[in-house]
Amino acid sequence: MTEQTLTGRVAIITGAARGIGLAAVHRLCASGASVVAFDRPEADFSTALSAGRVASLAGDVVNAADWQRAIDLALTLGERVDILFNNAGISGAIANALDYPEEEFDRIMAVNVKGVFLGLKYVGHHMLTNRSGVIVNTSSVSSFGGSGNIFGYTASKHAVNGMTKSAAIALAPHGVRVLAICPSPTATEMMFQLERRLSPDNPEAARPQLAQGIPMARYGTPEEVAEALAFLVSDAAAFMTGALVPVDGGTLAK
Ligand SMILES: NC(=O)c1ccc[n+]([C@@H]2O[C@H](COP(=O)([O-])OP(=O)(O)OC[C@H]3O[C@@H](n4cnc5c(N)ncnc54)[C@H](O)[C@@H]3O)[C@@H](O)[C@H]2O)c1
Repeated sequence: MTEQTLTGRVAIITGAARGIGLAAVHRLCASGASVVAFDRPEADFSTALSAGRVASLAGDVVNAADWQRAIDLALTLGERVDILFNNAGISGAIANALDYPEEEFDRIMAVNVKGVFLGLKYVGHHMLTNRSGVIVNTSSVSSFGGSGNIFGYTASKHAVNGMTKSAAIALAPHGVRVLAICPSPTATEMMFQLERRLSPDNPEAARPQLAQGIPMARYGTPEEVAEALAFLVSDAAAFMTGALVPVDGGTLAK
């Protein structure tokens, strides 16, 4: 049985309706947390709502007013926001720097960079007032090196690392921790969509190719990422801040 290490804690999780965010909703609820599940209005919140004490927030991480609504909703679940899993993200175009469409660049920077920034800013302010809290941003193994054909995504995740480290330094004296989790390819709709785009006739054929760069030779699962998250947001990780934590089957060891 999962230990109740987060009993009484309130979390906001973005991108919570599916994939890694959905696994996080279930994992943090299993540890006793109450959760605001924040995702786009068209998302299906039903599986997230079934995880436990969960309230749904239909909005856009790029919209500051939606962050205020998320905080207000969280404060109906408890006295303060203890945890932010700043996880919503998109993959963008598959193209190199020269071919990358300008409007796609703006879109990926809006969701993956500005969305994370707004979470850090608004929830960070709230946590600073309370002198406690932990923020985990979802970065990627793509944040550690270049990639020929996923230019915008790679750039956006490098930015997430920079924001994570800078916010960690600024907030450390105020009792607020900031970390990033860096998954390698993980079995979610984001990867399945990528498989379909790379190999439209036989998407599954793309999988071994995409997995071959991972020493464990498989995708991670959303549950494995959520497990690492549960540790990082718990008091067991009280002296960890500013770290970029890989959950990657050995990818970054290469
Ligand atoms: N799947 C992978 O292989 C992988 C690897 C490394 C990092 N990541 C990162 O993990 C995070 C989660 O990805 P996933 O694999 O679960 O993807 P996913 O596409 O399955 O889920 C992403 C969720 O984010 C939501 N979302 C997107 N834009 C939003 C917005 N503007 N406002 C609110 N919600 C929004 C979507 O509706 C969706 O429910 C992303 O930041 C992604 O970059 C994923």
